[in-house]
Amino acid sequence: MLGRSPEDRDLTWVRICATLFPIELVKNKTVEDLAARVRPLLDDTAAVAAAVQRAAPDPRDLLDPEQRRGRADGYTQHVLYVEPDRSFSIVGLVWQPGQKTPVHDHVCWCVVAVVQGEEHETLYERRGGRLVPASTTCNGPGSVSACEPPGDIHRVSNAGDEVAISLHVYGADVEARGTSIRRCYEVAR
Ligand SMILES: [Fe+2]
Repeated sequence: MLGRSPEDRDLTWVRICATLFPIELVKNKTVEDLAARVRPLLDDTAAVAAAVQRAAPDPRDLLDPEQRRGRADGYTQHVLYVEPDRSFSIVGLVWQPGQKTPVHDHVCWCVVAVVQGEEHETLYERRGGRLVPASTTCNGPGSVSACEPPGDIHRVSNAGDEVAISLHVYGADVEARGTSIRRCYEVAR
């Protein structure tokens, strides 16, 4: 479509995917307990991260076997919980080997706990008007990280040889938006 940037088209594709593969709200005791731990801490992202680390959820308590296998056509998102006042969401993401996100940022704060496999996160920064990789971390089971916009432009990939699963707490209503992504970015290869 004329007048639309590549980044806008990428984000449109993310939203189309959310429509094609609609999210399903599956509540269970593990996520309900996690929501109860997180609820009083929403104004302190570091405290949310510490609570998620203490909870140390097992992927088998979050997702069923089919969900834990992932899909060959792209990483999958399962919205597990949305707070009744829509102030935060808990989401499970499943990555088969080699799958990755576009370079993107978020509309809200996020806490990420890797519960299976290995996720590589590359952070980007602006230099000379371009986005360039600034750092890459390898996050294995038990690792918990937090990010808050602005300055959260990143890409996540599964560079390992087994399915990776991570639990995400977002300070937004992911069920209503379909995604926590604010914008996707094109970067030089
Ligand atoms: Fe992200």
